[in-house]
Amino acid sequence: SASLTSLLPATAFAQNKIVLGFAQVGAESEWRTANTESIKSSAAAAGIDLKFSDAQQKQENQIKAIRSYIAQKVDVIAFSPVVETGWDTVLLEAKAAKIPVVLTDRSVNSKDDSLYVTFMGSDFTEEGRKAGRWLVEKMKDNKGEVNIVELQGTVGSAPAIDRKKGFEEIIKSDPKFKIIRSQTGDFTRAKGKEVMEAFLKADGKKINVLYAHNDDMAIGAIQAIEEAGLKPAKDIIIISIDAVKGAFEAMMAGKLNVSIECSPLLGPQLMSAVKDIKAGKPLPKRIVTQEGIFPMEVADKEFPSRKY
Ligand code: AHR
Repeated sequence: SASLTSLLPATAFAQNKIVLGFAQVGAESEWRTANTESIKSSAAAAGIDLKFSDAQQKQENQIKAIRSYIAQKVDVIAFSPVVETGWDTVLLEAKAAKIPVVLTDRSVNSKDDSLYVTFMGSDFTEEGRKAGRWLVEKMKDNKGEVNIVELQGTVGSAPAIDRKKGFEEIIKSDPKFKIIRSQTGDFTRAKGKEVMEAFLKADGKKINVLYAHNDDMAIGAIQAIEEAGLKPAKDIIIISIDAVKGAFEAMMAGKLNVSIECSPLLGPQLMSAVKDIKAGKPLPKRIVTQEGIFPMEVADKEFPSRKY
């Protein structure tokens, strides 16, 4: 005789799935695309029903998405806050609705850490320090001034604030290092190129180093440098962050000096956190991603094993 379960409609099982609402920042970079892909594929692999939205780098869109997840009564909400501040109101709404919130990749700046269960992602300040230490070592025999231009990430975002802070903390140990210009390129290739063009117009050959808060802006800037008749990675030392495949290609072509790793592959960790939350297991407040540094000399060897 047919078992009882085989007589139940398929939707009866579907309803038992954990529902996760994820409010993504946007699709601004190669990193972000890899992050989205990691979240989607690991949700599918974990049997979690994922509701996904793209905020196009706008906080108001992310807030709207979070409110709609609250209205839909999802089990867990996760998001990467586009900027650090301005989240308390909507997070209090989630708390009132008893929906746990997980922060991935970027954190919020709030006095109330009861507004989220855990924050998983990179230590952006440490990434900035790694970039600074690499430069200090590279320039250790250089006696003259080192003029640096900086392409910042999205204004008000945790990675832009912390990568700037960490880098400055290290280079201030020697007054020869000077940040002569610093402007946002919004983490995109197009903006990175545009702002680098302006830097080159203003300072041209005076620029010794470019520090870009992500690889995409560095890749855009490389184009601007070449169009200005200069040699990237030779006339201008270039440091960036993420270590996406595009950066490895630039390093293998001899156009980028170093990329500091920032892993976007947060999906599996997020899904296991979501399951732990539903099972009532406690989670640490902070889960830090472990990452390395890839100078151009190792790019050929490392490229085949890169996952994003
Ligand atoms: O928050 C992580 C940053 O956001 C990545 O470094 C950058 O590429 C992305 O857009």
